[in-house]
Amino acid sequence: MEVAQVLHMNGGMGESSYASNSLLQRKVLMLTKPIMEVAVTALFSTGATNFPASLAIADLGCSTGPNTLFAVSEIISIMIDLCKATKQEPPEFQVFLNDLPGNDFNTIFSSFLPGFQEKLRGQIKRKDGAWATLPCFFNGVPGSFYGRLFPRESLHLIHSSYSLHWLSQVPRGLEGNKGNIFMARSSPAEVLRAYYEQFQRDFLTFLECRGQELVVGGRMVLTLVGRRSDDPSSKECCYIWELLANALNEMVSEGLIEEEKLDSFNIPMYNPSPKEVQTEVQKQGSFSVDCLELSEVNWSVVDTEFNPNVASKDGGYSMAKSVRAVAEPLLVDHFGEEILDEVFKRYKAQIADGMSKEKAAFVNVNVVILLKKIA
Ligand SMILES: C[S@@+](CC[C@H](N)C(=O)[O-])C[C@H]1O[C@@H](n2cnc3c(N)ncnc32)[C@H](O)[C@@H]1O
Repeated sequence: MEVAQVLHMNGGMGESSYASNSLLQRKVLMLTKPIMEVAVTALFSTGATNFPASLAIADLGCSTGPNTLFAVSEIISIMIDLCKATKQEPPEFQVFLNDLPGNDFNTIFSSFLPGFQEKLRGQIKRKDGAWATLPCFFNGVPGSFYGRLFPRESLHLIHSSYSLHWLSQVPRGLEGNKGNIFMARSSPAEVLRAYYEQFQRDFLTFLECRGQELVVGGRMVLTLVGRRSDDPSSKECCYIWELLANALNEMVSEGLIEEEKLDSFNIPMYNPSPKEVQTEVQKQGSFSVDCLELSEVNWSVVDTEFNPNVASKDGGYSMAKSVRAVAEPLLVDHFGEEILDEVFKRYKAQIADGMSKEKAAFVNVNVVILLKKIA
């Protein structure tokens, strides 16, 4: 499977789209606000004497939906407040929205950007006292962030949330991962090693590329789904995929899916620990670590915080839909479209059963890191 060709979140605005099923990711973006504030304030302070007339910011793995412009909106409003407080005119903004080519960029530009641009109207006070629209220029950048995306030293701030745990490819050497679709407690040691080594290669490449694209003093805020434990097969990162594997294994036992088909499917993702992230940053050498934090979000927020009526009706419903919005294109590419509804019906039942037994196991651990370009 060519990950860069196949991977994308479900497009459009329909019932199974990422746009309609990304509340967990939104919660994570909200949790990251304080670090974003630190990053923008630091950028503003160091640039204050020689502040660029135009500030270039990029969101990598922006996807399509209400989350796409969330971080950009935060960055701009923090910057406007800082400029107001110091009586400076805000810079112009150049915004780059990156994702893989299969991402539904059309929906971003036709459905989400116009409302956002409307909000920029009358945001700044000119020297003559009149209110004017904040100059903000948007660009779509299709391509993998495991390669160069921007010219040398052309960006001031990079943001990426819930994207960098996706690997550039399914690691090689997973033949022994039978019955699993990700690292699991029953995975052999060589499978865990292959996943980790792929993460190391990919993350190092990512840092190399961004190291070339950021100006010295530029900042980068990255949030990855990670883990606390030293063990990459611990339940905290593998459980949601174990439940999906259970649903698929049930279908194998009923002859609805071929066993070899299941054995050759693996999710191209890795949930690093903070130490693993930091090790690659130090190895690569272009960045200092300003801040490294862990946060947690329980899948129950999708219902309790955003969607209380659905929760009471149907346990597992929102979570199964969220995972479907993310994983459907990968599953369709490998197994075909016909089995999808059945897979997710069974997955929803697995989640409901798991939640009734141990709600606390449905937690995503987030690794958030703020980096400064030093060399
Ligand atoms: C779960 S979504 C996160 C979207 C958004 N940042 C949010 O917080 O809601 C992950 C996104 O990362 C993108 N992605 C994964 N690998 C990528 C790569 N190598 N280059 C660019 N984007 C990638 C996916 O296509 C997907 O849109």
